[in-house]
Amino acid sequence: MDKNKIQILVIDDDVAVLDCVRLSLQNIGPYQVSVCENPAEALELLRTNSFATVISDVNMPGISGLDILESVSQIDSKIPVILITGNTEPDTMRRAIHLGVYEFLKKPFEMSDLAVTVKQAVETNRLKIQNEQYRNHLETLVQQRTIELFAAKSKLERSYLNTIHAMVNAMEVNDIYTRGHSERVTAIAMRLGKLLQLNIDELRQLRIGALLHDLGKIGIISGVLNKEQSLTESEYDSIKQHPIIGAKIIDPIGLPDTISKIILQHHEWANGEGYPYGIMLDDIHPLSRIVSVADSFDAMTSQRPYRRNVEYSKAAEEVANNLERQFDPTVGKLFFDNQRQVLSVLKDKDALKDLLQEAF
Ligand SMILES: [Fe+2]
Repeated sequence: MDKNKIQILVIDDDVAVLDCVRLSLQNIGPYQVSVCENPAEALELLRTNSFATVISDVNMPGISGLDILESVSQIDSKIPVILITGNTEPDTMRRAIHLGVYEFLKKPFEMSDLAVTVKQAVETNRLKIQNEQYRNHLETLVQQRTIELFAAKSKLERSYLNTIHAMVNAMEVNDIYTRGHSERVTAIAMRLGKLLQLNIDELRQLRIGALLHDLGKIGIISGVLNKEQSLTESEYDSIKQHPIIGAKIIDPIGLPDTISKIILQHHEWANGEGYPYGIMLDDIHPLSRIVSVADSFDAMTSQRPYRRNVEYSKAAEEVANNLERQFDPTVGKLFFDNQRQVLSVLKDKDALKDLLQEAF
């Protein structure tokens, strides 16, 4: 096949028609005309070659022009099919239109009519190919941009998380006894969150809220935070301000309200005896209830200046003994029942890192 010429396929069981059409078309345009008197062979040609237009007789033995039309639409719907027929029965016409025929030429036809129809059909084919290429190009472009956008979003999220970790580090520098506390609380809270089948947005908010839950301690005098003797009442009152201070610090950042609630309510108790506001369980945000369990557990199992740490199992029992009094019963019981699974993350540095950096 000459690739510089426009490829046309003509199918007709009448050899005289084939010769006539071939010679006429080749004389009037840059066409290379393949002819085929056997429709089965024509289908094979269609599968293995690329044609700009197909001209086919309708009534042929074995495979009809309508069958050819149907096959062409399946092989490449961009190829226009011109049907030549002496049969203009409505049923045939209707079926051909349904199958997407480009044009009918009624026998006998003028070669000049065929020439015009072929020229228009070839142009239609060219435009369809151009349109498809443009669409494919656009789709590729959209895919590339989507990948770039996701990469940029992921980079931004990582940078955002790193900033949060930097804020946590700044806070923990001030409080030598709770170093690593925020990350451990986050890991436990995230494990609980996954057991509770939280959605991706909730897990994201839980992670940031848990990491920042004690941020307000940055505003507490380090002498009070690190005091080895019992705290005076006024010192304890100042520590009780850290949830409010933390929520105020993050306020200008514009984080979701849920994160502010986690920070503000992580010391509230189910029975209303917590601080800073003494609200009851139903008014405590569900994500804050998770952080509360994780925070209390880690506080009990960490060494503090004023007391020794307790074993994991004893601390988990303490949580179970304070359901409804201090903790949300559902969250506290879930933690107690799954303590081995939840706490395994604290011993596995890779799992801990993954949970803290996981991109959702
Ligand atoms: Fe706290």
